[in-house]
This record gives sequence, C-alpha cells and structure tokens, in this order.
Amino acid sequence: MSNTKIWRGNSTFILAAAGSAVGLGNIWKFPYMVGSNGGSAFIIVYLVCILAIGLPVMASEVFVGKYGRKSPINSLKKLAKETNISEYWKFLGILGALAGLLILSYYSVFAGMAFSYIFNLFPSDLENPSAYSSAYFFDLSKSPLVLIFWHSLFLVITCLIVGIGVVKGIGRSVNVLMPILFLFIVLLSIYSASTGDLDATLSFLFSPDFSSLTPAVILSAMGQAFFSLSIGMGAIMAYGAYMPEKQHIGKTVLTIILLDTLVALFAGIAIFPIVFSNSFLVVTAGPGLIFETLPVAFYSLPMGSLFSIIFFILITIAALSSAISLLEPFTAWMEELSKIKRKNIVALMGFFVWFLGIGSIFSFNIWSDYKFMGLNFLELLDYLTNNIMLPLGGLFVAILIGWVLPRKFVRKNIKLKENSFKVFIFFLKYVSTGSIFLVFLYSLT
Ligand code: TRP
Repeated sequence: MSNTKIWRGNSTFILAAAGSAVGLGNIWKFPYMVGSNGGSAFIIVYLVCILAIGLPVMASEVFVGKYGRKSPINSLKKLAKETNISEYWKFLGILGALAGLLILSYYSVFAGMAFSYIFNLFPSDLENPSAYSSAYFFDLSKSPLVLIFWHSLFLVITCLIVGIGVVKGIGRSVNVLMPILFLFIVLLSIYSASTGDLDATLSFLFSPDFSSLTPAVILSAMGQAFFSLSIGMGAIMAYGAYMPEKQHIGKTVLTIILLDTLVALFAGIAIFPIVFSNSFLVVTAGPGLIFETLPVAFYSLPMGSLFSIIFFILITIAALSSAISLLEPFTAWMEELSKIKRKNIVALMGFFVWFLGIGSIFSFNIWSDYKFMGLNFLELLDYLTNNIMLPLGGLFVAILIGWVLPRKFVRKNIKLKENSFKVFIFFLKYVSTGSIFLVFLYSLT
C-alpha cells in the first residue's frame, strides 16, 4: 500500500463519494420520477429504501475498499484470501468495473447534452417558447454529430481528471467542484422558491397520495435509490481504498447519504416551483422535464437566462464528479494488472467508452428503429446496467458482508459501535438482501 494514494483529511473522501453519488440521478432523474410517480408518496418510499438498503450496502462497499486498499477486484481477492472464502468473489469486482464503463458510455451522452444547454440561450422575443424548446430538443436529438461533439468533450474532461490521478486529479477536482455545486443548488432553490410557485410545490411534495404507490412505483423508487447512491458497481468501494485510516465508516457514510438526499430534495425545490408557475407546463413530463420543459419555465422568469445557465453548469458539474467515479474502478484495476501508465490506460478505456457512447447517440436517430427485444441500443444498455448489473452487484455485496464473511472479522474491521453493528448486520442480512432480491426478480419478469 503506498501512502501517496490516500486522501488527506476526512473531507476529500466525503466530497469524492458525495460527488459520485450526486449526479444526473439527483438533478435530472429524481425530479422527473417524483413528477411522474405521484409526488411525495414516491419520496417517502425512496427515503425508506435509502436508509434500509442504501446505507448498509454503501457501508459494506466502503468497508471492503478500505480494508483491501486496492481496486475493488483486488480488494475482494485479498479479503477472500484472508478469510478463506472462495476467490470467485473477485468476479463481483469485475462485473462492477465493467458496469461502470457501460454506464459511463451513455451517462456521458446525457451529460454532454446538459453541457450544451449552458450555451443554449433562448432568443428574447419568442412568440412560442414552448414550441421553440421542443424543436430545439428534437433537433438536438436528431443531430448525431452535434451530440458526438458534446459527448466527446465531456468524456475528455472526465478522462483528464482520472488520468491525472487519485490525489491530484480526483481529489483536487472534487474539492473545487463540490463546493460550487452546493452553492449553486442552494442559490437556485432560493431563486426558484422566491420567483416560482412555492405553495403548489410544497403541497405536491408534502401531501402524500398513497394510492399512487403501485408495485412498479415502489420498485422504481428502489432502483433510483441504488443509482443515486452509486452503489452496486464498486465506485464507492474503489474510493474506500483511498479513505484515511482513522476516518469513521458509519458517520462518513451517513454524511454522504444525507448530502445525496438533500441535493435531490433541493433539486425538486429548484425545479418544481418554476414549472408550477407556468400553467402550460406539467411536472409529469418525464425525461424531457429538464431539457424541454424547464428552459421554457426559465424563459418567463426575471433573470431566467442567467439562472438557466447556472442550472446547466450545476448539472454538468454534478455529472462530471459522478463520471470520474464510473471510470475509477476499471482504471485502478488495470493499473495494478499492467505496467501501462495511468494516463494511457485512461486514454484507452476512454476511447472504448466513447465508441460505445456513439451507439447510444444513434439510438436517438439513425438507429432508432433497430430494436432487440423491443429495446433500442440505449434502452438495452440502461436495462442491462440498472436492472441487472447494479442490483446483482448490490445483492452480492450484501450477501458477502451479511452472510459469508466471518462475523468476528467484519466486527473487528468495520469498527462500528456494538449496537450500530447489530442493526447494520440485521438490515444487511435480511432487509437489504431480501428486498434487492425481490427487485431483481421483478425486474427480470
Ligand atoms: N450516482 C450517480 C447519479 O446519481 C451516477 C453514478 C455514478 C452511478 N457512479 C455510479 C450509478 C455507480 C451507479 C453506480 O447520477
């Protein structure tokens, strides 16, 4: 273990892990899912999932990384060797590292789109801003070259940061990016709450309608909790390896989860009041909520174009700090496996991810009719990663720590207080394992 790869001070690990967690999942996906799934009842289920599944699984991932001090794959290998369990557990790491590259390939396409919106200013004298916005979004999705440009730009920045290294690249960048992100989200919420329709938002967010909770809604809340916390593919495990020895796993994980959840809720407060303030717009718009609906909402508000720029800078920063965590597990593994320099590994993988991303771009246009089992390329990748690879990864982490590893070993190394440890194991063993298993079964049917 070389000390050059440990982040100094407790805050860098928290910022990096929160940076991984806070992303498109919070600012783009969470609001539209809340909007389309009936509001606060969805939020309540989401919060339960975060606590009952997210917390124990994330703590387990950090534990493995911190104990192993290597890439997820080799940390798992080391753990297996030292506790005399099957070496096959390392495949959990390989599955995760691969999932990271696959997710990054389309994540970068959406992040690139958000990036391009920083520069998409509405002309000031539009007769029909709504039609303009729809047409803009439609044109963008039908222009592969433009999408490839933004996808490439976003990916190059991601690769540069990861290529520079763990301490100087990832560590330093999150120390700059995350404070800006927190500042912007608070600023936007204040703006939105004061110029938009806060009353409608509060009643939408805080008067639960439990009749909207179908099994499908509950399961999508669970899936969203997984995605939002970045668990199930080893991103947090990889970062755990760089956590200072003295840092407390329980408190740190609680902080990260709190930050992730606060940003998601603040994103709701930044978006809904301005959507509600415009009677032509609906919160049930789905994935287009940010790209089609929101620009129109901003258009009609004082200083709307300034805040629209701030909003899209915010999303781009959030996506960037997540994207680097999607690349890190594979990079760390390759670095241990070969003598190739980190920069070259990243360049190579970046190219692979870039190439794969083009498939997702084509799904919007020239390949939109090519379908396999009713899904286009992007939908297929999304399904494979979010519905199969992430839940499988999370399930195996929960089984490994909750059921397979000797209890004494976990207790000695995770350093939780007696009572917290009991609760942790109980949740991991029964609640997390059981419910992930159910989601997984359901998502396969
Ligand atoms: N959590 C990020 C978001 O909310 C996305 C992400 C980053 C992710 N790393 C991950 C999702 C690892 C799953 C696994 O946008």
